[in-house]
Amino acid sequence: MTQPDLTGIKFFIQTFGCQMNENDSEHIAGILSAAGARPVTAPDESNLVVINTCAVREKSVEKLYSLLGRLSKFKKDKEYLIGVAGCVAQLYRSDILEKKPCVDFVIGPDNYWKLPEMLKSHFQEKFIATQWYRDWHEIPEIQRTTAVSGYITVMEGCNNFCSYCVVPFTRGREKFRPAQNILSEAENLASMGYLEVQLLGQNVNSYRDPETGTGFSALLEAVDQVQDLVWIRFITSHPKNIDPQLIHTMQQAKSICHQLHLPIQAGSEAVLKRMNRGYSRKEYMAVISHLKDAMPDIALSTDIIVGFPGETEADFQQTLDVLEQVRYTNIFSFRYSARPLTAASRMEGSIPLEIKKERLQRVQDLQKKLQSEMNQAKVGKIYDVLCHGKSKKDPQVYSGRNYAHQVVNFSSGQECEGKFIRVHITGSGPYSLKGRAPD
Ligand code: SAH
Ligand code: SF4
Ligand code: F3S
Repeated sequence: MTQPDLTGIKFFIQTFGCQMNENDSEHIAGILSAAGARPVTAPDESNLVVINTCAVREKSVEKLYSLLGRLSKFKKDKEYLIGVAGCVAQLYRSDILEKKPCVDFVIGPDNYWKLPEMLKSHFQEKFIATQWYRDWHEIPEIQRTTAVSGYITVMEGCNNFCSYCVVPFTRGREKFRPAQNILSEAENLASMGYLEVQLLGQNVNSYRDPETGTGFSALLEAVDQVQDLVWIRFITSHPKNIDPQLIHTMQQAKSICHQLHLPIQAGSEAVLKRMNRGYSRKEYMAVISHLKDAMPDIALSTDIIVGFPGETEADFQQTLDVLEQVRYTNIFSFRYSARPLTAASRMEGSIPLEIKKERLQRVQDLQKKLQSEMNQAKVGKIYDVLCHGKSKKDPQVYSGRNYAHQVVNFSSGQECEGKFIRVHITGSGPYSLKGRAPD
């Protein structure tokens, strides 16, 4: 097949959502560039804008509509195409074209490989591509946004159907990328000088190599053998799938960071059940104990939803209690948002917005206090920090992350970007550490 020619197209991609969306946008950029299009750095320099969207909460969808409002003004002045990609595209499909006349095409996550051909053959007419495929479709083209830490998608989709979550309806059922392709990508990144890789999937622990049937621990062990990769991380893990083998692999590996994102969502047994999470609070806490016993330095983070239908004050207290017990390095907390097609959206006992707001504030206040205490205790320690570049707030300061994935801002007399630096921690706040590199 000859490559469609998109010379003349100047594209800008706006990404919302999770790391997988960020990685997908890198692939979309790679596909468009390979077909002759050129990336630009602002929507008004472009003649093609692709908005890669997230549907996980109502607020995420609102971001799309407010951006479309701004872009539709450009559209009146000059000829250009607006495409909606990602999870909103997959969820609302042709509704988007009907409701938003400024949108020219809608493309779901399983269809990006078709983009050049579709742009070429449908330039004058609107198009939609939201089919789902059962098997993995490899997209070799990629234009990465950083040269330090590389994303590698290992699986996509979810079979868990947590009652609040729209992701199974946007990403479809689980499908797995062949381990060979994952390893080649990791080797390739290492040979280009990347020091860290992050393996991505909605539910990485259910990974099975489609060719050999081996699981996630075996994949991690193989990636751990790749020469010159210093740090390996993976996200997201489901608590019900953390098995002794995985803990053993993390403990023994040379390069896997002792860091794990393990969403609990809620502390109450009753709420967890209605969420259809597939574990009890007791089981979750047992996993946490195993992890801490095997790796005393492990840094844990989590996701919390407050105000799930029927959540009582006593249920909510259980969530606060988990935060006190586990002492997470970091959390991501959200107000419950009813999503289309989900079981929870049909449940009774909706919690008033004011109460959801108040509970979110209490979760965040407690976690801020805990993080301040834990970070304060790190002053005086020395960490290896992978430097991602200059701090956005202060160009005199470098910014990077330690093994625990905490932000460390530090001063140094030398050029540090893309290197591991030993940083002496001299100060702390609730959300980051401050330090100094030796001269
Ligand atoms: N696959 C991952 C990520 C799912 S989305 C996982 O299973 O952990 C990321 C987070 O968004 C979830 O962990 C959850 O905390 C939050 N989330 C998902 N649906 C939500 C909803 N309807 N309302 C509020 N938060 C939600
Ligand atoms: Fe959503 Fe649950 Fe699947 Fe995560 S495991 S993507 S929260 S359904
Ligand atoms: Fe959002 Fe889709 Fe990721 S809904 S969180 S972009 S999987």
